Amino acid sequence: MDKFSKIGVFDSGLGGLSVLHTIRQIMPNESLIYIGDSKNAPYGTKDKSEVLDLSKQVCNTLISNDVKAIVIACNTATSAAVNELRSTYDIPIIGMEPAIKPALRQTEGKVLVLATEMTLKEEKFKQLVDSLEEGYRIIKMPAPEWVELVENHMSDTDRVQNEVDRQLNKVTEKIEAVVLGCTHFIFLKPYIRTYYKDKVEIFDGNMGTALQLKNLLESHNWLNDQPKAGSVEILNTKSEIFVEKSYEMFNWLETRDEF
Ligand code: DGL
Repeated sequence: MDKFSKIGVFDSGLGGLSVLHTIRQIMPNESLIYIGDSKNAPYGTKDKSEVLDLSKQVCNTLISNDVKAIVIACNTATSAAVNELRSTYDIPIIGMEPAIKPALRQTEGKVLVLATEMTLKEEKFKQLVDSLEEGYRIIKMPAPEWVELVENHMSDTDRVQNEVDRQLNKVTEKIEAVVLGCTHFIFLKPYIRTYYKDKVEIFDGNMGTALQLKNLLESHNWLNDQPKAGSVEILNTKSEIFVEKSYEMFNWLETRDEF
């Protein structure tokens, strides 16, 4: 393994492709390998120990590809497994956390945090909220159906908008900001914007995670300084169709300014 080795990125499925996209934006020279564990998605409604086992299996595959760092492009797997993964593997492991801090800093009203059941009930989330002075402004809501919409490649756009509307209609308070604490939900940003008629701020942890990765590689002198663009390889545990759809969804993100 050296600075020309790939960076490994994984998620329970297709959501982490949004993180892959952000990494690509700020470090185009890095070669990336992504594993979506769609065969076992969703992670958010499983037991913590099961998510830990699944995360280890995926990391073992990434390690066998000689990666120089691993990004857990999944808030759920980070909550369940980041500590254990860090003590198991000898390379830097970067996790994710819902972007609650910037949301509270930049707004004054209520902040809606959308994430998986597991992320919202895990100790890591509790500690994060307890550490904040204005944690009382947070409203949390799981949205498991949204994970499914993205795993189904958002093929029926009317159904996606209806489901997003149905979920957000449950919120009775006035919201000033939304935090997308699940990487799948990033794909639903245009639909969330439509629901709120562009009147709420939307935050996610993708850029924070990508910048953390960059700083870490820089501090190890491990940034890939090759003069050409790096490669992007996408694998998926479910099927070849999911691999094809993943490339389509990744390319779709690359064409939209809002991501
Ligand atoms: N993409 C994952 C996250 O960021 C979770 C989706 C799932 O439930 O598998 O939390």
